[in-house]
Amino acid sequence: MDKFLIKGGVPLRGSVTISGSKNAALPILAATLLTDEPCVIRRVPDLSDVRFMGEILESLGAQVEFSSGTIRAQAARIKPHGDYELIRKMRGSVCIMGPLLGRLRRATVSLPGGCVIGARPIDLHLKGFRSLGARVTIEGGYVHARAPRLNGCDLFLGGRAGSTVLGTANVIMAAALADGITVIDSAACEPEVVDLANFLNAMGARITGAGSPTITITGVRKLHGAEHDVIPDRIEAATFAVAAAITRGEVTIKGARLEHQQAVADLLRQAGVKIERSGPEFTVSRAGRLKPVDVTTQPYPGFPTDVQAQMMALMCVTPGISIITERIFESRFMHVSELARLGAEISIEGPSAIVKGGQPLSGAPVMASDLRASAALVLAGLAARGTTEVNRVYHIDRGYERIDEKLRQLGARIERAKET
Ligand code: EPZ
Repeated sequence: MDKFLIKGGVPLRGSVTISGSKNAALPILAATLLTDEPCVIRRVPDLSDVRFMGEILESLGAQVEFSSGTIRAQAARIKPHGDYELIRKMRGSVCIMGPLLGRLRRATVSLPGGCVIGARPIDLHLKGFRSLGARVTIEGGYVHARAPRLNGCDLFLGGRAGSTVLGTANVIMAAALADGITVIDSAACEPEVVDLANFLNAMGARITGAGSPTITITGVRKLHGAEHDVIPDRIEAATFAVAAAITRGEVTIKGARLEHQQAVADLLRQAGVKIERSGPEFTVSRAGRLKPVDVTTQPYPGFPTDVQAQMMALMCVTPGISIITERIFESRFMHVSELARLGAEISIEGPSAIVKGGQPLSGAPVMASDLRASAALVLAGLAARGTTEVNRVYHIDRGYERIDEKLRQLGARIERAKET
């Protein structure tokens, strides 16, 4: 297993190019199961999660080739039954259920377990499939869905924490080949849902309203192959924006879309971070002393839960009190105890973390627990005095393409080493 050794205290300078979005690529790759024709997906990040999805598609019978950011996939003949172990390992693979049900009218997929950030049930996904007319049972750790016919319907998909991203994606993909019209209310509005709808429409689907809480899908009889460029990764872009601010640096972010970051940009600006747009790029720098800000995570276009940990790292080096409230996942504060090892002062009260910022951080061995928590530890390590050792960086490799190389290009003193 790899670890990162980070010598902090260097202001990051230069420009970084953002990769394609992991969370857009995963459902789009699953959507290639909806047709027997070849699909070409470009700007796919080379991440372990993406490779996993490729293996899962192959385990269903599809042909998948991945070379330098482009995936060619063809699901000429597929089976409805996915590989238990492979699917159980990656939650994101739950989004193969909609395409299998849509195309084959049946799907058998292992129930994705919870993860460190929360229980993560899929009741809303199953509610959607049942509303389309599928019979859904859970047996032997598998979800079995069967539907001689899929009929369009009106469906409210809101849950305890509001909308569901992959739940919306799954229902859209099943409804794309259903008979009649499906209207999803309280749908997720994330840019990744819009990107999926654009790809499906390129395949011949008829989807309107993606990006709004009401999405309408007019079912069609068959979908064809298509080509698509995946949107840039807004969470990676936000992570590099925080990296510039936490190191008192100046970084130009290329290939990202600032319009996908409005909630993040707004809070960073309130904290005293300068964000200047120049054409398709934007430059992030520090305009003097940072100010503490309160953060509450919400579904898009609210502040993304996937940037909560990174923002907490920034507030650790910001003098004053800030309150960070996690409203999406019930246990997404695994990074708190590890940030405390670096000298941060954080207490947890229910869904909120109270950060007493401004203590100088000092390097120490810390343990990554999940993807975004590990990003926060890397950011804190870049700001800390001395050396920080971040262990289990396989978590970060799941969602950030070559992050250590990109940081080194900006002047960071970070190296990848084998854990002993
Ligand atoms: C997607 O997960 C992302 N993953 C997550 O990113 C992201 O944190 C999340 O959306 C929220 O933005 C991918 O796209 C692969 P949800 P998803 O369904 O779709 C509850 C990362 O770091 N819920 O929108 O699985 C659920 O428990 C990852 O890249 C139900 O109760 O998240 C959560 O509290 C982590 N029942 C809330 O809704 C359901 O059936 C939002 O979850 C479904 C969800």
